Amino acid sequence: MKKSIIITGGAGFIGSHVVRLFVNKYPEYRIINVDKLTYAGNLANLKDIEDKPNYRFVRADICDFDTIYALMQEEHVTGVIHLAAESHVDRSIKDPFTFARTNVMGTLSMLQAAKLYWEALPEKYEGKRFYHISTDEVYGALEIEHPEILFTEETKYNPHSPYSASKASSDHFVRAFHDTYGMPTIVTNCSNNYGPYQFPEKLIPLFINNIRHRKPLPVYGKGENVRDWLFVEDHARAIDIIFHKGVIAETYNIGGFNEWRNIDIIKTVIKTVDRLLGRPEGADLDLITFVTDRAGHDMRYAIDSRKLQRELGWEPSLQFEEGIERTVRWYLENQEWLDNITSGDYEKYYDDMYKNR
Ligand code: NAD
Ligand code: TYD
Repeated sequence: MKKSIIITGGAGFIGSHVVRLFVNKYPEYRIINVDKLTYAGNLANLKDIEDKPNYRFVRADICDFDTIYALMQEEHVTGVIHLAAESHVDRSIKDPFTFARTNVMGTLSMLQAAKLYWEALPEKYEGKRFYHISTDEVYGALEIEHPEILFTEETKYNPHSPYSASKASSDHFVRAFHDTYGMPTIVTNCSNNYGPYQFPEKLIPLFINNIRHRKPLPVYGKGENVRDWLFVEDHARAIDIIFHKGVIAETYNIGGFNEWRNIDIIKTVIKTVDRLLGRPEGADLDLITFVTDRAGHDMRYAIDSRKLQRELGWEPSLQFEEGIERTVRWYLENQEWLDNITSGDYEKYYDDMYKNR
């Protein structure tokens, strides 16, 4: 059976890396990128592959069950890699409804469409796969005082933000579809990603852009919160391996064993930007501005990804220093991509482009 895969959220940060990897690596597959193009979706992320014969873009809302179901029938879909989501914690604090709608109801809509479509086929779930991409934030927060404790696949869910609560809920629905209907599902929970094409509301691209323009860098609280950073291409590679070799109904944690305090990562980013722009290294440290902490700010995330290493042979390929260097260089060399987003021009471009469709 020819593989025909819907990748949701393919115009976003991680999704665009996954789409690119699959389109280039598997010319024999059909890759259908389903994305609503919210503020976070940007087709400029996929310019290099948009004309490939095995690629199709469909602008659709994952909550629109009828459209998704019809697309599955039309494209004879055999697999789903589900990344579409509202993904920014600060936005979830201001607008939790949108997060529940897209992350919970949208995931349910994808599950139900796949279930109805696959169950009606003679071979039913054979050769099918529904792969849900989730976050380590569902596990809650770890303590700085206990660096030996990491999130494992057995860690109890304990989400604190509306974002992580909505992702936790979607994970439960995915597992419930396996347990109740026998749907071939897989869930992975990954740590913080960084790299090219990340929307500049997230820490690293926001700060690179601000440093370039010598704008203040708003550090929440004391900057002591810890995150475990993974280069986005390593995440995409893990998704490829897990989609093909992962065991149905299993959960895999994905992380870089790469914990950093925010303030340390910020100083590293500042020095890297300064060096690459030819400024004295550290000249922009004075941009650091401590601001009121994020409500409910999780202190520490850290992933134990040994199961994935042991069972499927994946491990991160990039040292953090090299990843940060590549990332900073990419944003500095792609200032136009950043400017389009920060000026809002790209949203107008899509509105014009799709107005008459
Ligand atoms: P992103 O915000 O950059 O992209 C999300 C994409 O989903 C956008 O293209 C957007 O247009 C699309 N989208 C949003 N709502 C939609 C809807 N209703 N219908 C169709 N498309 C819609 O997000 P990201 O950082 O690339 O994250 C992708 C996935 O990975 C999310 O599920 C997120 O929870 C998960 N994740 C992210 C990280 C991280 O560090 N960024 C870490 C672990 C897991
Ligand atoms: P973020 O990139 O929003 O990812 P997440 O909240 O999903 O981990 O933030 C990473 C860390 O950086 C987090 O501890 C919050 C902090 N942060 C700031 O201090 N200032 C900022 O302007 C942003 C966006 C984040």
